Amino acid sequence: MKRLSDHLSFTRAGDVALGTLVPLPRAREVAREVGRRAQSTQAAVGVPLLLENITYYMDLPAPLTEAQFITEVMEHCECGLLLDLTNLDINARNHRYSPEEFLDSIPLERVVQIHLAGGQDGVGDAMALDTHAASVPERVWTLLRELVGRAPVRTTLLERDALYPEDFTELQADLDRARATLLEAPTPGKEMV
Ligand SMILES: [Fe+2]
Repeated sequence: MKRLSDHLSFTRAGDVALGTLVPLPRAREVAREVGRRAQSTQAAVGVPLLLENITYYMDLPAPLTEAQFITEVMEHCECGLLLDLTNLDINARNHRYSPEEFLDSIPLERVVQIHLAGGQDGVGDAMALDTHAASVPERVWTLLRELVGRAPVRTTLLERDALYPEDFTELQADLDRARATLLEAPTPGKEMV
């Protein structure tokens, strides 16, 4: 089945293209408006729309946690979730929250696709970075194992944009591991990895 996905973020401010994914203010009224726009977009394109969690490096005070905000958005639309587990892992470490509590808080029954990638660990006070330039870390595999039996995951995408290995052995190993993890889960109907 065809699906469309987009990030749960700003990419423009008025006429200015921001050139990066900018986190939305985590307020109830924003969640309601984003959900309404996602719903009308899904209706316009005629295929299911999936919303993806982003990484963010600056966190302003907000009335809702990230998990509460995503949950609230999903309550105002019938879209699916594209859960980027590497983004979750990086955000959880940079902003010091529990990724397990995050998974317990969002509507896992709406998760349709998973993204996996490798990033750069923060050293000292430096933040971890979502680089898509390394193999998938063990922490993210643990999150995938925790998730797959609880969510109707249909596909998993391995994201790699830079520092490609000499051969495809490393990438193939990540793909094989993702495929095996999904096939082991008691969730019916995986289409592909
Ligand atoms: Fe992603």
